[in-house]
Amino acid sequence: MMNIAVLVSGGGTNLQALIDAQNRGEIKNGKITLVISSNPDAYALERAANNGIAARVIDRKAFNDIKSYTKAVTDALIEAKADLIVYAGFMTILDEQIVNAFPNKMMNVHPALIPSFCGKGFYGLHVHDAVLASGVKLTGATVHFVTEECDGGPIILQKAVEVRNGDTSEILQKRVMENCEWKILPQAVSLFCEGRIKVIGNKTEIDEV
Ligand code: GAR
Repeated sequence: MMNIAVLVSGGGTNLQALIDAQNRGEIKNGKITLVISSNPDAYALERAANNGIAARVIDRKAFNDIKSYTKAVTDALIEAKADLIVYAGFMTILDEQIVNAFPNKMMNVHPALIPSFCGKGFYGLHVHDAVLASGVKLTGATVHFVTEECDGGPIILQKAVEVRNGDTSEILQKRVMENCEWKILPQAVSLFCEGRIKVIGNKTEIDEV
């Protein structure tokens, strides 16, 4: 059984999707054993507590720089013997220390179709604002491995939805979450725990069964 640690900063609906999938038996060969929040007020912490999952706050504001913050998070994950780390709405960009400690063992869910609308500054509703401003007709979500390049690691799964007339960024965020993020994140986590994701350079191959 793989130990799954989930990093959060806010509402935690993606954490909830993982918990729900786990409760339905859809995370094969893995269990969520730890939630780490960068924000002491994150509602995600209540979701962990409600489901009996151990949670820790490592408050970003309590650290002066990203180096000492990354070290604290990395040490906590090593101590927890995490096999897989999931960035689920985690709003801090950590430095190379964590990537070196957990190469190809960290995945992030991003609310757009990478390589569009990603990188520094593209997070949360800002992503959907940019999608609407651009006029694209399709958007979606991506789950990818975390590397040193922000949103640049090997893509694991993607799913698309339509942009519709009259969409606001809130409406679009909801559609992307419900139809894409909450589906492909648990799927990618299970694929990882089942050992079905092969990383080849900056690409992945999923073993079909
Ligand atoms: C989600 O849409 C997630 O994809 C996004 O923030 C939201 C968090 O929601 N993450 C990023 O933008 C990271 N670049 P949640 O806390 O309800 O899961």
